[in-house]
Amino acid sequence: MMQRALFRRIAQVAQQTAALDGSVVARSAPLVQRQERPMSSVTIPPPACMLRPLEAPLRYLFGPGPSNVPPRILAAGGRPIIGHLHPEMYEIMNDIKKGIQYAFQTENNMTIAMSGSGHAAMECAVFNTVEPGENVVIAINGIWGERVAEIAERMGANVHRMVKSPGGYFSNKEIEQVIEKHKPVLFFLTHGESSAGLCHPVDGIGDICRKHDCLFLVDTVASLGAAPIFMDQQNIDILYTGSQKALNAPPGTAPISFNERACQKMFNRKTKPVSYLFDMTHLSNYWGCDEKPARVYHHTGPVSGFFALRESLAILAERGLEASWKKHKEVAAYLYRGLEDLGLKLFIPDRDLRLPSVTTIAIPEGYDWRELLMYIMKNHQIEMTGGLGPSIGMVMRIGLMGYNCEKHNADMALHALADALKNCKKSKA
Ligand SMILES: Cc1ncc(COP(=O)(O)O)c(C=O)c1O
Repeated sequence: MMQRALFRRIAQVAQQTAALDGSVVARSAPLVQRQERPMSSVTIPPPACMLRPLEAPLRYLFGPGPSNVPPRILAAGGRPIIGHLHPEMYEIMNDIKKGIQYAFQTENNMTIAMSGSGHAAMECAVFNTVEPGENVVIAINGIWGERVAEIAERMGANVHRMVKSPGGYFSNKEIEQVIEKHKPVLFFLTHGESSAGLCHPVDGIGDICRKHDCLFLVDTVASLGAAPIFMDQQNIDILYTGSQKALNAPPGTAPISFNERACQKMFNRKTKPVSYLFDMTHLSNYWGCDEKPARVYHHTGPVSGFFALRESLAILAERGLEASWKKHKEVAAYLYRGLEDLGLKLFIPDRDLRLPSVTTIAIPEGYDWRELLMYIMKNHQIEMTGGLGPSIGMVMRIGLMGYNCEKHNADMALHALADALKNCKKSKA
C-alpha cells in the first residue's frame, strides 16, 4: 500500500514538474517533455514479485496428480512453437489422435484432445451429448461422479444419482435397475476413482447401456495407462482422460473420444450445446474429424501442451499398453506389501478393485493426517495427499504413475511414511 502511494506521489510530482517546466520548455524541447510523460501514465507500479526470477522447487509428486514430467516430455513442450493452424501442427494433431486411439483401444474417428484439463473433457462429454430436460444417471462413489452430476445439473439435465460411500462399487444388476427406472440418455461411471483409490469393473455395462438405448460415459483420468480399458470392446460410447497422470504430460490437455452412437446423438440435437468452446461441431473440424475439406479457426490450441501430449503418447506407444499396465500392477503390489509391513491398512480391502496408479491408505489411528503429510513434504520433498471430497479425513493417497511408477519411488514413499509415523505425535485418544 505504502509503496503504491509513494509511486503515485512520485508520478504526481513528475507531472507537476513537467507542467511547470512546460511553460518554459514547451516550444524549445518537446522531446524531453515526451520522455518524462510516460512516468505519469502508470499509477500501478510493477509488482515486486514480477521483478524476481521464477522459483519452483523440485518435488517428488507422489500424490494423485500431476505426476513428475520426464525430461523427454519437458523438452518436447519446450520446443519453439509453430502456428496452431500450420500444416505441421495438423500432422502433430493427427499423430495425437492416433496415439489416443491406441491408448483408448478404439478406432473412433471422433477422437481429439481438449484444450483444457480433465474437467474440460468432462464438460465437453456432457454438454454435447445431453440436452436440457433429458435424464442422466450418474454413479457416485467418490468425488468425480458428484462433479459430473453438478456439471449435468448446471446445463439443465435431470440428474439421477446412484450413491455409494467412497470406495463402494456398483453391480451390473444395480446399474441396470436404475437405468430401467429412469431411462436416461447417458450413464456415467468413473473407472479410476482417484479420491477413493478404486478401479471400477467396466465389463458388461456397455451392453446394458446399449440394451436400454443409453450412452455409456467413462472417466479414465486417473487410470489410463495404469489399468486396462478397451473402449471398443467394452462398448464405451464416450471416454476421456487427462494428460497429467500416468501419461506424465503437464496438466492442460485432455484426450476424449466419441463413437458412432455418441456422434449420432450429439450431431442431431435440437439445441446448441451451452458452451461455444466445447462445441464438438467446431472441435471436430479443428481436429480434422469432420468431412469438411478445410479446418477453420475456432480457438487457439495450446501448441506447447500438444507437443508434450504427443511425446507422452509416443512414450506409451513405445512402451506398450500391456507393459505399462503390468508395471503399475507390480509396483502397486510392492507398495501394498511395504505399507502393510509398516502396520498401515489399505482403504480398499479387495486387492482386485484397487486402482494401481493411486493407492489409498486408511488414516492410521491416533494420527493427524495433515501433520503426517506436512512432515513428509517438509522433510522429504515428497507430495502425498489426503482424501478429496467425501474421502477427506478417511484416506491418505500415494500416486505412482507412469514415469514415477518405479519400485525405488515406492521405497522412497515408504521410507518417508515410516519417518513421519515415528516423528509425528500420536494423540492419546
Ligand atoms: C478420476 C478423475 N477425474 C477427473 C479429474 C479432473 O481432472 P483435472 O484436474 O485435470 O481437471 C481428476 C483429477 O484428479 C480425476 O482423478
